[in-house]
Amino acid sequence: MTAQLIDGKSFAATLRAEVAADIQTQIQQGKRQPALAVILAGLDPASMIYVNNKRQACEEVGIQSHFHHLPADVSEETLFALIQQLNQDPAVDGILLQVPLPDQFNDKKMLEWIDPKKDVDGFHPYNLGRLAQGRPLFRSCTPFGIMTLLNTLPHDYRNQHAVIIGASYIVGRPMALELLLAGCTVTICQRSTRDLAEQVRQADIVISAVGIPNLIKGNWIKKGAIVIDVGTTRLPDGKLAGDIEFDEASRRAAFITPVPGGVGPMTVAMLLKNTLTAFSLSLS
Ligand code: GUN
Repeated sequence: MTAQLIDGKSFAATLRAEVAADIQTQIQQGKRQPALAVILAGLDPASMIYVNNKRQACEEVGIQSHFHHLPADVSEETLFALIQQLNQDPAVDGILLQVPLPDQFNDKKMLEWIDPKKDVDGFHPYNLGRLAQGRPLFRSCTPFGIMTLLNTLPHDYRNQHAVIIGASYIVGRPMALELLLAGCTVTICQRSTRDLAEQVRQADIVISAVGIPNLIKGNWIKKGAIVIDVGTTRLPDGKLAGDIEFDEASRRAAFITPVPGGVGPMTVAMLLKNTLTAFSLSLS
């Protein structure tokens, strides 16, 4: 079997065009432009690339992006004051605090300072809690993007066994809640999981979000599975690699996401959608 490729890049382009058209209509009705504040502390090269991609995507669809680039040794007081100021600014709809923050910070404590109604990443405990209750406001962008992709497949995945590898609050944990709410039976694997291969072999849906190239062997994949690779690691030769051995996995899976061009563009598209939602909330 050769898996069908899940083309996140082209689906994300369609979503971005829809967001752009929606914003255009609202501007023609006399509304202001939506705005996203983006905060980056330090010069981490990967974070700088992510932030630039997100800001460029915003500008392309008509969302203003206000960039706050802070030095790596910024104090907690200064970051707190900035977040407070952005929380109170009626011209700012969404706030994105890029993580990981420099070592002196506790990322989760900082994220909790963001007004939950401007938390377009969906990382605030209020938004994760609402997701756990099954009535989400802002859904974390990567899991939201993956659910959107799963819903495009000609395949009812709702009673399937999903195995997630990686339990971060950014992907793995909200992903588990999303799939549970959709009717899946969910297993989450983490560092302490004893037999990862055995878990993956059981999976109708495999979602890996670890960041270790080729951690998941292609021959672990069950025939006909849906395979979603969130891992994105830059190799010494400059290429991007996922967590899953792509060639062998794609011989066994029914559907598979590529890296790059799978989940990554969907994460950015969902950020734009969430910012549009925050804009609508701020006007209501
Ligand atoms: N770091 C890695 N992914 C993300 C993300 O989606 N949002 C933020 N704010 N930081 C990240």
